[in-house]
Parts: sequence; structure tokens; C-alpha cells
Amino acid sequence: MKQICVVGTGYVGLVTGTCFAELGNRVICLDINEEKVVRLQRGEIPIYEPGLEELVQRNVAAGRLRFTTHYAEAVPDADFCFIAVNTPSGAEGEADLGQVRAAAAALAPHLREEAIIVNKSTVPIGTADRVDHIVERHLPADKKGLRFGVVSNPEFLREGSALTDFTQTDRVVLGATRREDAEQVAELYAPLKCAVLITDPRTAEMIKYASNAFLATKISFINEVASVCERLGADVRIVAEGMGRDTRIGRAFLDAGLGWGGSCFPKDVKALAHMAAVSGCHPQLLRTVIEINKHQRHKVIQRLRDSLGTLEGQTVALLGLAFKPNTDDLREAPALEIAHLLLAEGAQLRAYDPVAMDNAARLLPEAYYARDAYDAVSGADAAVLVTDWNEFKQLDLVRLRERMVRPVLVDGRNVYEPAVARSAGFLYYAIGRGSPEDVK
Ligand SMILES: NC(=O)c1ccc[n+]([C@@H]2O[C@H](COP(=O)([O-])OP(=O)(O)OC[C@H]3O[C@@H](n4cnc5c(N)ncnc54)[C@H](O)[C@@H]3O)[C@@H](O)[C@H]2O)c1
Repeated sequence: MKQICVVGTGYVGLVTGTCFAELGNRVICLDINEEKVVRLQRGEIPIYEPGLEELVQRNVAAGRLRFTTHYAEAVPDADFCFIAVNTPSGAEGEADLGQVRAAAAALAPHLREEAIIVNKSTVPIGTADRVDHIVERHLPADKKGLRFGVVSNPEFLREGSALTDFTQTDRVVLGATRREDAEQVAELYAPLKCAVLITDPRTAEMIKYASNAFLATKISFINEVASVCERLGADVRIVAEGMGRDTRIGRAFLDAGLGWGGSCFPKDVKALAHMAAVSGCHPQLLRTVIEINKHQRHKVIQRLRDSLGTLEGQTVALLGLAFKPNTDDLREAPALEIAHLLLAEGAQLRAYDPVAMDNAARLLPEAYYARDAYDAVSGADAAVLVTDWNEFKQLDLVRLRERMVRPVLVDGRNVYEPAVARSAGFLYYAIGRGSPEDVK
């Protein structure tokens, strides 16, 4: 049994800490957000993540998991200190390392001999060295010369399936200057019996950015193909199916729609492009991937303008607000960008999301928050399906249309069959689902 401290108790830190506790370790999760820690100490989970509440409660009850705001409580006994704080976008698209620097500086005075600091946050290439220097600088006089390690261990979990992503991960990536340090971290993952790749810190850091940028590229690629499909009368869903059967391509991340959002892809693609540019490369592909993604949001607005004429004074219903299903995370959610574009053109908003409405009400106070999808579309001139929550897949489309003033439905996630939606009376628009009739 190892003693683990996790610094930063957000989507990644809380899942990581809880899963390591479940594997039998003693874990203290630390956060500077007092309100969050108090809630966790009361047994409340501050985020929506399926299965997490039960797992937290079980490990707290077993005495393997605790929460604190005090570095002096969490760090001194820790064999491993995971840094899982956020690395948001800075003004130029670079990853802002402020939280990582602060965490490294704060934990240094309490570090024990031979402790290993593990960078779990997504951090720019070279950050392991920076953390090493920061910790070195902040060691108190009586600890100068203390031996400690720094290992880069990027996280690949997805919100909404974070627990299974952790326990059934495709791979664990570990980057270290001293191989023994990486091997010690690998031991923590040994019960998962997963593939472990040990490399140097810079390569490990790059694996994370390259992975996210590649997945975002796949989505932007299929969105560009979708635009061509619309013009030339092909159906992008079947195109994706046909492409995906090729094992060299794979079906995942080939769903055309409103584009990628969330807490990772937008900031990580920007950060990689920024790193490329400042190191003298030309990140043309990455810039285009970002541009295509932005365009997907604007296309929805154009579609609504084409259908409704002016948007001034029109009521638009947004079905789904979270950046994807099974999370309450609204960071860089397409819904927010679309909402702001609509508000700027004078539209009124009605919205519904199964779990993200409390978060949304803080960020988008202008909207009316509905009880359910039917309430959301009541009196609306148009509806946009933004997030493909399961509960939207079985909606009664006739009932939905009857509640609306005008029957305009933009299906931003290709959830419905065009023929079914049209026979329910909708002027229905999907993404990239053209048909031969469109070009006749
Ligand atoms: N969210 C994801 O799906 C995901 C997946 C893979 C990787 N990542 C990466 O993991 C990192 C964390 O992401 P997240 O979504 O969990 O972020 P988050 O914003 O949900 O959580 C970060 C937490 O760190 C706390 N914090 C900030 N500064 C601190 C400090 N000095 N000391 C202690 N706590 C501090 C914040 O209060 C917050 O609770 C990011 O680098 C992100 O790119 C995220």
C-alpha cells in the first residue's frame, strides 16, 4: 500500500485519487478551493461523473481516501505527489502553467526524501524540467539536497466514462529522466495489467498533445467531408461507416456535427500550435483544424438565418448544453458559443440539459431553463440539438413539433433519421446528410 497525494481535485484529480484508493492505496486529495473540499468531506461530489459518487463514498468509508486544503497535511507522508491542476489557455493560446507552478512551489517545503512528483496535468514539452527546478528552488534550507523524482504521466480519460477509462486504459505513458522513478509509478498501475510505455519526459508530454490534436483532426476532417457531402448529395454518416470499417482508419471520432469542445481539445490543440510556432515550425494543419471547428458553429447560425430570416426577436431552443453527453462540463461547449452568437443577433434562448443547467445558469443567465426538451421548444421558432444525450434520441418528434411556433430543427449531432424528422413535419437540417435529390 502506497501513500499518495493528489494536488487538484477536479475532473482528473478526483477520479485519479479515487481510483488509486480503490486499488488499495492511501490517498489524500488536496485542493485550494475550500468550498469543493468541504463538500467532498460531507460526501458530496462537486462534478457529474457516472459511478464516481459511490466509489468515493466506499473508499472514504474504508479509510483510504481523504480530502484537505492543507499541503502540510497531504504531502509529508506521500510517496507520490500527483499534480492534477488545470492548464488553461493563456492569451496567445499557450498553456498557462500558473496552477502547476503554484502547486509545485507549495508542495516542495513538505516533500519527503525519495518522493516522486507525477505530472498528470497536460503540460507543455519541457514542464517536467521546470517542475524539477521549481521544487528545487522551494526546498527549505534544512532540506536542500533532498532526493526526489519528477515523472510525466499524462492522463487520457474522458469525462463521462472516466472510471472505466482509468481502470481499462489503453496505455499508461510515463516519462522520466531516471527510469527507476518511472518504474515506481508503473507499480501503482500494475493491478490494471495495462500496457506501460516508459520514455523521456519530453516525449511523454508530446504524446498527450499529439493524441488530442490527432483526435480533434479526425473530427474536423469528417466535418469538412460533411460540408462537401451536403453540396454533392452524399450521406456523411454512411461515409464514416464505410471509412471506419477500414482498420487503418477506425470508426471512432468520425461523427460529423457541431465540432469538438470541452476542457481539453480546444486548449490542447491551441497549445500545440503555439509550441510549434514559437519553436519555429508552421502549424498549418493544426490552425486549419481549429478554423474548421469554429466554422461548424457559424454554419448553424447561417442555417437558422436562412430558415427564419432575421434572428432578431426569434426564440431558439437549445437541446443539450454540456460539451458532450454524460458530463456537466461546459468549458468550450459548442452550446455556449452558439448561444452567444444567437444573443448577439437578438434571439431569445430557451434551453434544457439533463445535468448541466446549474453550471449553465451561471454562464448564460439570459436563457430560460426548461424542465425538459418539450418545455424547451414550447413557443420556439427553431430548435438546435446541440448535445446527443441519450434521452433526446427517443423524443416524440410530432409532440416536439406541435409545441413549436415554427417547425425548424437543426440536428447538430445527426441523432434523427432525416425521413422520420421530415415526416413529423419538421424543416429538418442535419450535418452532412445530403441526398441525391439535393443535387438534382
Ligand atoms: N477533464 C478532462 O477530461 C481531462 C482529461 C485528460 C487530461 N486533463 C488535464 O488534466 C488537468 C486537470 O484538468 P481538470 O479538468 O481536472 O481540471 P479542473 O479545473 O476540473 O480541476 C483542477 C483543480 O485544481 C485546483 N487547483 C488549482 N490550483 C491549485 C493549487 N495550486 N493547489 C491545489 N489545487 C489547485 C482547482 O481548484 C481545481 O479544483 C488539465 O491539465 C487537463 O488538460 C483533463
